[in-house]
Amino acid sequence: MKNMTIMSAAFVLVAAIPVVAVSSSDDKVGFNFFGFGASVQLPSSADDEDSDGISSNVAFDAETRALLKVGDAAKGKEIAANNKCNKCHSENGIAEDPADPNLAGQMASYTYKQLRDYRDQKRDDRSMYKRTKKLSNEDMAHLSAWYASLPVPERMGKASDATLELVNKGDPKRMIKACGSCHGRGGEGGMHDSATLNGMSQEYFVATMEAFKEGDRENDIYSRMRLIAEPLTEAEVTALADFYATQPPAEEE
Ligand code: HEC
Ligand code: HEC
Repeated sequence: MKNMTIMSAAFVLVAAIPVVAVSSSDDKVGFNFFGFGASVQLPSSADDEDSDGISSNVAFDAETRALLKVGDAAKGKEIAANNKCNKCHSENGIAEDPADPNLAGQMASYTYKQLRDYRDQKRDDRSMYKRTKKLSNEDMAHLSAWYASLPVPERMGKASDATLELVNKGDPKRMIKACGSCHGRGGEGGMHDSATLNGMSQEYFVATMEAFKEGDRENDIYSRMRLIAEPLTEAEVTALADFYATQPPAEEE
């Protein structure tokens, strides 16, 4: 009998927890204490990345195209200097650390989309979120025009027949479309968000392909790059980097 009382007291206590939790839905402390915090608070949090399942808020509609047209490279240069972009991407848009992407010669439409995606937390990177969260869409259009105006670093262009096959024909058996069909025959870039692939560092190229493959980078509209990257082997990705990417500046000297 004594046991029963203890048990029912314990039961009441346990049963009371969800009641308390539900009735105090604004009380973050109470929630976190019971470990329910994450699941309950997420839906109300606007900055919860991908809670809406949308890969990007950017559409290349008339408004975006008009904004890109008024992007001013001279203003962009100034904004880059004032926001410490040069610290990592350098003043000439060619990063010293090969982990940081080169931006020189990249299509303005692509750069603009990435900056928006970082700010909207659609592309996940802490330092880029910090650098973009206070920038306006206009600032981003100017920055994009600035980087687009800089010369693209030379690409290595080393490729075996198998790599050229992927670049020009893809691999229909694995549903891989030719890189060139979206990124341009010479890697110069295609429509809107289909980036220039020339002149990236190998290290960044491989890392971002890996991020698409693992789904850590998921800001590609319609999963276009995640679907392409998924079936590629590590060796294929490295070989593609040798074709498109440039060597890090340190090794060029
Ligand atoms: C602390 C170093 C750092 C600073 C400062 C910084 N970046 Fe970056 N940037 C990075 C890194 C690292 C990445 C790659 C992150 C990733 O994998 O998504 C990146 C990615 C980017 C990309 C995407 C490139 C691509 O090929 O997809 C753009 C565009 C960019 N940065 C522009 C800027 C601009 C503009 C500023 C200033 C407002 C800036 N960055 C400041 C480190 C930095
Ligand atoms: C169906 C069109 C399509 C095909 C085919 C395609 N890509 Fe892409 N790729 C894209 C788009 C769109 C993006 C930009 C995603 C975004 O918005 O961030 C992209 C981005 C990339 C990036 C990141 C660029 C950067 O600066 O971070 C790399 C690297 C890349 N693609 C490599 C490849 C390679 C290698 C192939 C061939 C094996 C390929 N792509 C085939 C559409 C395509």
